Amino acid sequence: MDSMQEMRRTHYCLDLLKATPGDDVCVAGFIARFRDIGNLCFADLRDFTGIVQLAFDDSTSPELFEKAKSLKSEYVVIASGVLRERSNKNPNIPTGNLEIFVKSMSILSIAKTTPFEIRDEVSVKEELLLRYRYLDIRRPSLARSLAMRHRITKVTRDFFDENRFVEIETPILINSTPEGARDYVVPSRVHKGRFFALPQSPQILKQLLIVGGVDRYFQIAKCFRDEDLRADRQPEFTQIDIEMAFCTPEDVMDLNERFIARLFRDVLDYKIELPLRRMTYKEAMERYGSDKPDTRFGLEITDITDISGECGFGVFENAVADNGKVLLIYADDISEKVTRKEQDALTSIVKTYGAQGLAFAKITEDGQHGFLKFLNKEFKETLFDRLKAKEGGAIFAVAGKSEVSYTSLGSLRLEIQNRYFPALENGFDVLWITEFPLFEFDAETNTYSAKHHPFTSPMDEDLPILETNPLKCRAKAYDMVINGNEVGGGSIRISNPEIQNRMFNALGLSKEQIHEKFGFLLEAYEYGAPPHGGLAFGLDRLAMLMLNKKSIREVIAFPKVQSSADLMLKAPSKLDDIQLKELGLQIVSNDGDEQTDS
Ligand code: AMO
Repeated sequence: MDSMQEMRRTHYCLDLLKATPGDDVCVAGFIARFRDIGNLCFADLRDFTGIVQLAFDDSTSPELFEKAKSLKSEYVVIASGVLRERSNKNPNIPTGNLEIFVKSMSILSIAKTTPFEIRDEVSVKEELLLRYRYLDIRRPSLARSLAMRHRITKVTRDFFDENRFVEIETPILINSTPEGARDYVVPSRVHKGRFFALPQSPQILKQLLIVGGVDRYFQIAKCFRDEDLRADRQPEFTQIDIEMAFCTPEDVMDLNERFIARLFRDVLDYKIELPLRRMTYKEAMERYGSDKPDTRFGLEITDITDISGECGFGVFENAVADNGKVLLIYADDISEKVTRKEQDALTSIVKTYGAQGLAFAKITEDGQHGFLKFLNKEFKETLFDRLKAKEGGAIFAVAGKSEVSYTSLGSLRLEIQNRYFPALENGFDVLWITEFPLFEFDAETNTYSAKHHPFTSPMDEDLPILETNPLKCRAKAYDMVINGNEVGGGSIRISNPEIQNRMFNALGLSKEQIHEKFGFLLEAYEYGAPPHGGLAFGLDRLAMLMLNKKSIREVIAFPKVQSSADLMLKAPSKLDDIQLKELGLQIVSNDGDEQTDS
């Protein structure tokens, strides 16, 4: 193996675009591809920024030429030579017009054959890529994502610094934080039988920083939530976490939309028009059936409850009689595309959201298709009028409990768009959803829980109904939504101990539970608490959207798989008996072995 000898890198691959043919340059990286054509050979050298072609011929030095011929994929080399125009240009890479005619090269590390080819189009199972994530990261697109993610955090730090925010680290070994997921816990050796919980967010700590007089806090914070994973969720993820004193919801939204506009401008050169649209939760649910509506397309929900009481169709009439809703989505020109099989698939979607079924009808000349044949003539006329229905259109209707009907149609709406309409154009549709409900009701456990978290302030005008009509009580809470994804959310906090106590009571916490869980916070408020509020963006989700990726795993260096395991580190893993004894732990079930060992 060679050493670096006298050679020192002068350029990263991409920076060669700024150099001039004829310059002496030196690059270092991995061999991406090698071609031997007799008295010439070529190698593509890849570094974190890109790729450049190295050219060798047998005229330079027989020793160097021999060495070049021994190159294999993923060998690590440093090579110096003269930059020159390439004769056969490669339009697919930025440096495709250039090559380095190599005069000297050291092979610094050789490499075994990799378990998959290191290139962007590689099609192998994701499990294999994750098991060898350090090789996966060599792929240009993943390297680019990580570099862009760095740009995002850099702009974030600059923006908040310029706006007088101070970055403060909060601890990871803390107590349970109420964000609604399960906690990851860490056993204490010193306090046997006791556990730390990892933060689901720095929520309580950032509020205490405000009580501590830190007027504007931010942190790029690691959060941990033991919840079912999806493409936009990881058990360990990063928030851009913000809290500020003496603010209204407008102040928080105004500052943070300026942040997002700056981020998109600086990272993507994309202009976001300010101020952003604000839509209440109620409007979002009624029009789109979702609190994170994708408003890039129509297909809005139509409420026909008012006319359905005596429409002739029992399913609709019963829903009205039960104080429910009759809702539908109408789409022009798709009736031919919706086959019987597709109707079944769409029905099963609404059923997963709790709807009883999906009433479907095509608009045909005789107006008798599907559920239309049950409807009386007069109702049908009013309906078609309301929908501006045309032949070739299709109606998808759900009748039943209000919330279920809205959410099931909300998800059906996305599916209809995906299945029957052209892909949406690139671009970003950004808006705020405001005035969220303060509480959610869980019919199974017959309990209320905080929709956001229990420190969220009720709207002033709804304070009187906090106890008497909690589900009507709205919160000073807001979410930012981009292309139908919730990228951030926050609220104005309760800073008055009396209201905080009322909130805890409404959530069914006993005096003892309040004292045990949140006594320190209530006590802190007794020493003077500035009114405050804030928000947190999901950094991974933001990066995923900005880089147009399908999963947040594509913007995280070492992500976990569906079962929350790390396939490369083989984590989580077992503890040996000595460690267990030290921690005072005994394992009573090994159910999880199969998932992590595979
Ligand atoms: P919330 O729970 O809404 O609020 O989280 C804020 C944002 O974090 C992102 N996010 C996630 N990203 C990846 N994987 C996950 N498992 C995950 N969970 C959440 C989302 C979400 O919008 N403390 C409050 C914020 C506040 O009130 O200031 C909080 O954590 O993009």
